Amino acid sequence: MPDAYYADPRLARLYDTIDGPRDDLDAYLRIADELGAGRVVDLGCGTGTLALLLAGTGRQVTGVDPARASLDIARAKVGAAGVTWIEGEAAAIPADADADLVTMTGNAAQAVLTDEDWTAMLRGVRSGLRPGGCFCFETRRPERRAWEEWASTKSDTTDVPGVGVVEESTELTMVELPLVSFRTTFHFLADGTTLTSETTLRFRDEDELTASLLVEGFDVRDVREAPDRPGREFVVLAVRR
Ligand SMILES: C[S@@+](CC[C@H](N)C(=O)[O-])C[C@H]1O[C@@H](n2cnc3c(N)ncnc32)[C@H](O)[C@@H]1O
Repeated sequence: MPDAYYADPRLARLYDTIDGPRDDLDAYLRIADELGAGRVVDLGCGTGTLALLLAGTGRQVTGVDPARASLDIARAKVGAAGVTWIEGEAAAIPADADADLVTMTGNAAQAVLTDEDWTAMLRGVRSGLRPGGCFCFETRRPERRAWEEWASTKSDTTDVPGVGVVEESTELTMVELPLVSFRTTFHFLADGTTLTSETTLRFRDEDELTASLLVEGFDVRDVREAPDRPGREFVVLAVRR
């Protein structure tokens, strides 16, 4: 079950504005170019920003996400008819997708918590890739201990078009590595509504990532930096054997 931030229609409307300019996505467009990827599946596509950028470059794109409210926002965007949108997790990637590339951005991979779900995710991705196709995903480096910054995050105020001013605050609720949980509270000034979203993320180190990929039929081609967040993220490129 995705977090309310993605699955509640009122909160999903905030994502694109609160998440801000998507400087992180250029790197994924460059990777699609580098791989010559014509068919791309964006897993955990959320509100569809990357899927639409990829489709805008003439690629055949499928966006997959379990959060219907986020997909509804994606489907309403300019160019959305050029993307196939599917509600679900990796198992919903069509077996005949024959994709050159499956992307998973925005640290969506960290929302996969258990070993069983991680294995199921890798199997779904693998079945959607052509042999030699690439799974490219990002995940925060556990050694950077990002949650220590979240613990000290003060509240933020954002003016969201069509919604009004929203105050957002984050409270760290659990650190039991490899799991970290936090609660985000959104206060809508226009009508006084307060909504919360509970998040748990799993932090996997490079050895764990590599071992799990090898077992599930991938070879790790590269582990890179996210250029906009040096030292913070692994960007993994894993090729279907
Ligand atoms: C931080 S958002 C990132 C969205 C998008 N990739 C981006 O970069 O804007 C995380 C997304 O992962 C999705 N998600 C959560 N669990 C998932 C799972 N098991 N498989 C695929 N996507 C999942 C959520 O619904 C949400 O849309």
